[in-house]
Parts: sequence; structure tokens; C-alpha cells
Amino acid sequence: MSRKTMIIGNWKMNQTLESIKEFFMHLEETEFKTELVAGFAPQALHAGLAQDYATRFGLVIGTQDCSAHEDGAFTGELSLNAIKEMDLDFVLVGHSERRQYHKEDNELLNTKNKLALSKELDVIYCIGETLEERESEKTFDVLKDQLIGGLRGISREEIEGLTIAYEPVWAIGTGKTATSEQAEEAHKYIRGVISEAFDAEIANGMSILYGGSVKPANVKELLAKENVDGALVGGASLKADSFAALCK
Ligand code: PGA
Repeated sequence: MSRKTMIIGNWKMNQTLESIKEFFMHLEETEFKTELVAGFAPQALHAGLAQDYATRFGLVIGTQDCSAHEDGAFTGELSLNAIKEMDLDFVLVGHSERRQYHKEDNELLNTKNKLALSKELDVIYCIGETLEERESEKTFDVLKDQLIGGLRGISREEIEGLTIAYEPVWAIGTGKTATSEQAEEAHKYIRGVISEAFDAEIANGMSILYGGSVKPANVKELLAKENVDGALVGGASLKADSFAALCK
């Protein structure tokens, strides 16, 4: 397991079939470094189209969520078997919008993480504190709970497919990025928790992404930090120019 530099765009409930075509047309000139893992999590209904384009650029495509159930009578859910069948590359699990609006807790997210990893699908597991939690100095406790709760029972082999995204909730979509020092402090702590829960080799090999108002203007400073291996980007990943600038 070795740490990878990653830039992943989370398109959330944005883009249309037309805007995705335009996006990739504009990306035409961009050359992606071979050592960079770059890609998107589009809306699930757009994943097939995005995948057709993305493979031409060597980009990866994943979904923004998945079901915690194997299969069966779960109307509206996004099946991991179908994600696997579509040959998608990863799933995002535990994004703060899922935690906040759909009341997803660490126990449920643990089931999702385990099921996805058992199917050899890569998981980007999102964690992060709210503003209130930061202000009451609970950041580290919250991160630890999300890590220990979300990763319980995952084997050494399976953990290879896991990437962490640290996304302070107060920095998502607000234009308020964490400073590179705040990001580094949290990432270092996260790596320490992984090291305790698994071991140092696993912790050192794991990619930890930062997310929350990442833009071309601040990505370089964030990624210059020792424990920041990449970025999970919402708003600034929606336009081809801006995404290409992030990847450069
Ligand atoms: P943002 O979103 O870059 O628009 O702040 C990040 C995310 O939600 O993953």
C-alpha cells in the first residue's frame, strides 16, 4: 500500500448530460500526470456517461453514496453490486451531507464501508467536525469516533482499499477553507488513530484527502503539507478549467 496523490471532484446533485459533454470537451487539452489519481463522483444516473469520457483521460469515476444492504427490497437505494457491475472505481461513504440530511451515523457507515471493501471497491470515507464541535474543542474526539466507529471490523487486507477524506463541515461550500496548518494538524491526528487501530505501515500508506472550499488558488499550499495527500473538491470541480488547474 502506498500513498497516492488524488484530486477527486464531488459533483453532488449538479451537472446535466449536456454539461458533462461540455466539461469533457473543454478538458480535451489537459494532460494528467500519470502519478495522479484524478476523477469524479457524478450523480449515479450520470456515471455511465461520465465513465465513457473519463476512461479516455485515465480518470476514475465513483458514486456519492451506496446502500448498506446487499440487495433486495430497498426502494431507491444504490446497490454496491450494480456499482461493481458498472465497473466503477470507488464509492464515497459518509459525506457530511449524508450524515446531516439523511442522519447516517457511524454504525450505518461502518456497514457500508465493510460491504463495499468486501467487494473490492475502493472507498473514500469522509469525516469531519462541525463548527460547534471545533469551537468546543471536540474536533479530535469527533474524528476519533468517526474513524473507530466507521472502520470497526475491517481487516488488514480490506483496509488497503480505503482512503480518508477529512472535510471540516464548516469549510464545505462556505468559501472558508481550513488553513493548511489546521488541515495538517487534523491529518496528522487521523494518521495517528489509523496507526493505533491498525499499524504504522498501514497508516503511512493511506492517502488522506482534504475537502472544504478547495480551489486552484489554495490547493498547492494544502497539498504541500506532509500529511495532506490530495483533495476532495465540490464547487471548484464543476468547471473543466478549474478542475484542470487543480490537477496541475
Ligand atoms: P466544496 O465541497 O469544495 O464545494 O466546499 C467539498 C465537498 O463537499 O466534498
